Amino acid sequence: MTLWGGRFESAPDEVLWRYTVDGVDRRLLPWDVRGSLAHVTMLARVGILDEAESATLTEGLRRIAAEASEGTFEFRDSDEDVHSAVERRLVELVGPVGGKLHTGRSRNDQIALDLRLYLADACVARAAQLRTLAGVLAELAERHADDVVPSYTHLQQAQAISLGHHLAAHAWWALRNADRFEDARRRIAVSPLGASASGGSSLPLDPAVTVDELGWNSHFDNSLDAVAARDFASEFGFCCAQAMVDLSRLAEELILWATTEFGWVTFADALTTGSSALPHKKNPDIAELARGRAAGAIGALTALLALQKGLPLAYNRDLQEDKVHVFALDDSLGGTLEALTALVGSAEFHPPAPSSFTTALDLAEALVERGVPFREAHRLVGRLVARLVADGRQLSDATPADLEALDARFRPEDLELTDPEVSVRRRRSPGGGGPDSVRAQVAAIRQAIEGSADR
Ligand code: ARG
Repeated sequence: MTLWGGRFESAPDEVLWRYTVDGVDRRLLPWDVRGSLAHVTMLARVGILDEAESATLTEGLRRIAAEASEGTFEFRDSDEDVHSAVERRLVELVGPVGGKLHTGRSRNDQIALDLRLYLADACVARAAQLRTLAGVLAELAERHADDVVPSYTHLQQAQAISLGHHLAAHAWWALRNADRFEDARRRIAVSPLGASASGGSSLPLDPAVTVDELGWNSHFDNSLDAVAARDFASEFGFCCAQAMVDLSRLAEELILWATTEFGWVTFADALTTGSSALPHKKNPDIAELARGRAAGAIGALTALLALQKGLPLAYNRDLQEDKVHVFALDDSLGGTLEALTALVGSAEFHPPAPSSFTTALDLAEALVERGVPFREAHRLVGRLVARLVADGRQLSDATPADLEALDARFRPEDLELTDPEVSVRRRRSPGGGGPDSVRAQVAAIRQAIEGSADR
């Protein structure tokens, strides 16, 4: 039975039903009931429902909520959507008074609310997962604060840095993504309920009561905007897609670091996979799938935006499709965070020492401290590097005679700077790649995580 049969002479055709009813919104059941409970309270508060009616509807909805959480709620093929299913079940449970639930409401403001309720919770959950990942990375950063690796630019060895610095770099974006979800949540948690189908109602609805019931801070100002807007869904989609892109970059590095060529890292056997053909293989499939799923996330965000671009105000059925993409994004991110955090947590790092050429800047900066213009110092060290490379030597193979032949302002003890370990320990600019900076970052990351828990 549809919610709208009165106007129609014939029942819906099977073709219509197959095409328009997709069941994707069934996932919103707990949030749909939560919204309806708030709606009933509001209807009672403004005198549209009497006390007995509101108690009956509330009791019925609570039973449906219990069925939802126990997994015993049964959808029927004849339920057009989650809203119809709840109303049908409510009438089964409490009788014709259940027909009062939809007073002053349409499925247009209802679905907007359901999606907002779902996404507000999803923001909290994804932010928490992102902070957990940041915490795991901070733990590793602390453990490896004194281990030295090259940093890379253009995927060429650049400067010697602490391995902890590289791991902490990944924690920082994780924290920013967590903040982004919380910021988006403020715009998501705005109630559209009371907008009705598009233009409000002749009944004395009070959206402020609904907002209070939901524990939110604000409600819509314009009923058309309330039912038409999906910018909040796009924003959630962007938060997910950006996090997936960042996770993909981490995944790519984990894959690279696990190669024989890099040899930086080994993952737990239980979190890697083997090859059906090659007995020696140990593959970082979690990281590869994380990288692969970022593609789907970008696609889903693009689809969400494209879905909205040509829609006239206010509600259009096209918007039913938003949920496909929103759920895909949320699932993809939730699953990726869970799996990649486990993989990272299992990592054993054993990176080889960087090339001593990663200390070339230190040598140039030694001259700068003696008053040599940086451009000149750069050129002198560049010439030294060219000579050593031509001889097949490393920077640490340079001799006092090599320095003397280039410029009198070099000193023999400058050669001590060509040890990457020394280079890293001498790094002193704030936020730089030395161990003291790493320890300060680890403390700051932990503080940010704890601070968010208090909020
Ligand atoms: N199933 C719809 C959606 O997901 C909600 C109902 C829309 N309203 C309507 N009049 N068909 O957007």
